[in-house]
Amino acid sequence: MKIVPLIPDNAPFSSEQRAWLNGFLAGVLNRGAPAPGSASMEEKQPLLIAYGSQSGNAESLAKRLAREASGRGFAARAAGLDSLQPADLIKDKNVLLITSTWGEGEMPDNAISFWDSLNQNGSSPKLDSVQYSVLALGDMNYGDTFCLAGKKLDSRLAELGAKRIVDRVDCDVEFDDLAKKWSSAAFTILSGSSAATPTAKAEETGYSKKKPFPAPLLSNNNLNTAGSSKDTRHIAFSLKGSGLTYEVGDALGVFVQNCPDVVDSIIAAHSFDPEAAVSLPDGGTASLREALIKHYEVRQLLGKAPEADTSLTSFIEDLRKLQPRLYSIASSLKAHAEEVHLCVAAVRYSTDGVAHKGVASTFLADRLSLGETTGLYFHTANHFRLPTDLSKPVIMIGPGTGIAPFRAFIEEREATAASGKNWLFFGDQKRATDFLYHDQITEWLKKGTLTRLDTAFSRDQEEKIYVQTRMLQASSELWQWLEEGAHFYVCGDAKRMAKDVDAALHEIIQTAGSKTADEATAYVAQMKKDKRYARDVY
Ligand SMILES: Cc1cc2nc3c(=O)[nH]c(=O)nc-3n(C[C@H](O)[C@H](O)[C@H](O)COP(=O)(O)OP(=O)(O)OC[C@H]3O[C@@H](n4cnc5c(N)ncnc54)[C@H](O)[C@@H]3O)c2cc1C
Ligand SMILES: NC(=O)c1ccc[n+]([C@@H]2O[C@H](COP(=O)([O-])OP(=O)(O)OC[C@H]3O[C@@H](n4cnc5c(N)ncnc54)[C@H](OP(=O)(O)O)[C@@H]3O)[C@@H](O)[C@H]2O)c1
Ligand SMILES: Cc1cc2nc3c(=O)[nH]c(=O)nc-3n(C[C@H](O)[C@H](O)[C@H](O)COP(=O)(O)O)c2cc1C
Repeated sequence: MKIVPLIPDNAPFSSEQRAWLNGFLAGVLNRGAPAPGSASMEEKQPLLIAYGSQSGNAESLAKRLAREASGRGFAARAAGLDSLQPADLIKDKNVLLITSTWGEGEMPDNAISFWDSLNQNGSSPKLDSVQYSVLALGDMNYGDTFCLAGKKLDSRLAELGAKRIVDRVDCDVEFDDLAKKWSSAAFTILSGSSAATPTAKAEETGYSKKKPFPAPLLSNNNLNTAGSSKDTRHIAFSLKGSGLTYEVGDALGVFVQNCPDVVDSIIAAHSFDPEAAVSLPDGGTASLREALIKHYEVRQLLGKAPEADTSLTSFIEDLRKLQPRLYSIASSLKAHAEEVHLCVAAVRYSTDGVAHKGVASTFLADRLSLGETTGLYFHTANHFRLPTDLSKPVIMIGPGTGIAPFRAFIEEREATAASGKNWLFFGDQKRATDFLYHDQITEWLKKGTLTRLDTAFSRDQEEKIYVQTRMLQASSELWQWLEEGAHFYVCGDAKRMAKDVDAALHEIIQTAGSKTADEATAYVAQMKKDKRYARDVY
């Protein structure tokens, strides 16, 4: 087909540039053949990078890989599984699926409806025309449920006839390297060439998990008062000079250190030389003592008798890299410029008379001094965002440290003068000692920033009163808010609280909304699809 000349001869381009531009414009405008060497959108291989993600790892990876795939010439897009139907896989044809696992071997929230539609009796789609591969994100500490969601999706897609082009890869917490190998293999196979090279390179700029910002600790205040059985800290870091920003709903990654006393007792129990040089997980060497304080996980060694004749080399080889911990951000930058705040429960417990303390929470509560720095990075949580329409009502369920993102949300709603109503459910053990952020919350109620507050202090009376007790007591008002389009958020304990709150939500929709159990399930599924039900649970 003849190329239609679009760039005039007198335009300031060389003849090669003119020919290329003419070809490009002709291709784009569908008026002629594409430029030599440039592929039109029709020729590009479609590629869907679908993600199931709770706290954002799989989501950011999927988006990064979609950008990289576009640079390699694919017509690539990233999409959450909550926005997809199995039929979409047939349309996109080439599918890379990345999913994490949550709870105890469960699908992340945004993958539940997709998983259900893959398993509908009698109406399971045939996926023979789909080529796919699965990358499963997980954590080996979860044992039998390691990467279970990814494993289930992988085998179900195969059962439905989809063709696996690269074997599933199961990743532990450090997933970057494996993800890179997996995606390179998949891109190469899908592009039908072993020489596929990226035309655009992903840039690493500024601070990130790989290059954390050394932030000084600004404050550390106990939010519980004398007599409490808990120790919950309000922690503030300075971001001055970092250029870093975050959005409310995001989490903060914190690099931490093991307790030196714990490390010393482990070294003594093994009769090792604390100054002996050992290798570090990411290369290089350090003294054994420094390596155990800053670089290796040692929790699993606590209370365990050392094995006889363990050499220092095999001792070190068995250790896992010390991981940073995530905390929900408890502040809005609009209220606290160049600062980030957290609400951290210090983990302290005993088993068989042996006292244990959580690595990160007690590092923050007890061992990091004011002014001292530790490495921080931001973890984007696009699934946990305030409504962009400021007039929408918001319901927040945040017992214990679950209050953290809601302090940030309310600060943000106040700073943006959002007109929508705000309803907070907070609970903890005792009103007198455990009413976290009492003064700020009371002030918000007085000013009307907080439209309604329901508290549930579980140990102020004989029977347990929990946040879901209060939700059920307020069924008809809660249903009314939902019908007005309220966004419903839950943060805190995943194992018990979040499940019970979910059950209470279903019950309220059934009773106050006069729906059957199936209708309530469909109502909740629609809320999730509309991004009106979001959870930040751990
Ligand atoms: C997205 C996200 C957001 C989070 N936000 C917050 C937050 O806002 N505030 C907050 O405090 N935490 C939050 N967490 C949890 C936080 O990341 C840490 O997991 C928590 O502080 C414990 O870490 P640690 O290093 O102190 O404890 P670790 O050293 O990791 O020890 C914790 C482990 O100790 C064991 N353990 C704990 N208690 C007991 C017990 N009573 N009996 C027996 N074993 C026990 C369990 O195996 C547990 O996994 C969040 C987690 C995620 C993933
Ligand atoms: N996945 C985890 O490992 C995990 C998650 C969250 C918290 N924690 C640990 O728990 C400690 C404190 O955490 P936290 O301050 O966030 O508070 P929390 O332990 O979650 O407790 C906050 C409030 O929730 C209540 N609660 C207990 N079971 C509940 C349920 N099924 N439904 C609703 N509410 C329930 C508690 O009551 P009672 O205590 O009186 O029953 C308390 O009043 C920390 O040591 C933290 O590490 C662990
Ligand atoms: C509360 C909680 C439960 C988890 N449960 C599992 C599990 O059962 N199996 C597993 O392999 N990983 C589990 N993980 C680890 C996550 O899958 C892992 O952190 C993953 O990188 C999260 O990715 P996401 O941010 O995309 O959701 C769990 C993590 C948390 C915080």
